[in-house]
Amino acid sequence: MNAPRNTQYRHLEVHKIAGSLGAEVHGVDLSRDVSDQALAELRAALLDNLVIAIRDQNMTPAQQLAFARRWGEIHLHPFMEGMADYPEILAIIKRPTDKKNFGGSWHTDQMFSPCPAMGTMLYAKEVPSAGGDTLFTNQYLAYDSLSDAMKTIARQLRTVCVGDNFKSANGLSRKDRYSGQMSEMKVKDPGNVQTTSVHPLVRTHPETGRRLIYIGGHVQHFDGMTDEESQPLIDFFMRQSIRPEHTCRVRWQTGTLTFWDNRCTQHFAVNDYPAETRIMHRITVCGDQPF
Ligand code: SIN
Repeated sequence: MNAPRNTQYRHLEVHKIAGSLGAEVHGVDLSRDVSDQALAELRAALLDNLVIAIRDQNMTPAQQLAFARRWGEIHLHPFMEGMADYPEILAIIKRPTDKKNFGGSWHTDQMFSPCPAMGTMLYAKEVPSAGGDTLFTNQYLAYDSLSDAMKTIARQLRTVCVGDNFKSANGLSRKDRYSGQMSEMKVKDPGNVQTTSVHPLVRTHPETGRRLIYIGGHVQHFDGMTDEESQPLIDFFMRQSIRPEHTCRVRWQTGTLTFWDNRCTQHFAVNDYPAETRIMHRITVCGDQPF
């Protein structure tokens, strides 16, 4: 296993926000053409910290999209309608009358895809006066802190992941769960896009070479095992992931762009701001097949 990384930066200011993951980044303007050197340091900051909150940005959707394209191809959400002018951008909107929020449970993005998202960048357009934070986990630590015997068991398991009709939502479709609850978010039919996939529970990060527990709310059961056999183990690996010492919390400001590595984190959008508006622009970058 490779050791955790700790880069020295020349083009950015990077300050850790918690002991186990997460950093704030200053000193870069993403609305301009980011130099190759600054981009290389942003990649290093992401690989070192798993989640980077890049503060004080002022970007148009076109500028956010141009920045996202420097990281790879854009992933279109199979179930959620993008913005009319920018289908690659999902506007995550919660209004004062909305009861439910988008992303309000532990998950990692597009785990139901055969090649799940490498990373997600969320740009804060409007934030509540307090609350609306996003929590993150370090899935390397979820693996590293297991006993050797449990690591051996975990390495033999494969997860069956679905994009809709989750067990935890009593099998209800996204359409039924979201309608009347999130007034400005539109569910679409995924058509023939693959939205059920099987992945290794222990995944090797393709860039750092480190092993991690790859799990989230899309996991329904382990391949070849019944729900009854799977659920206690899923609960254990989820508890292991979200131990407080494996997490960090991003407090948003208008103009923060947070970029997280979906390959080695989970996240949870906290729904603690009734009667206020929160608006985010989300772009997801394509990833590769977990191994
Ligand atoms: C998401 O799960 O993509 C949304 C996270 C957030 O709004 O904080």
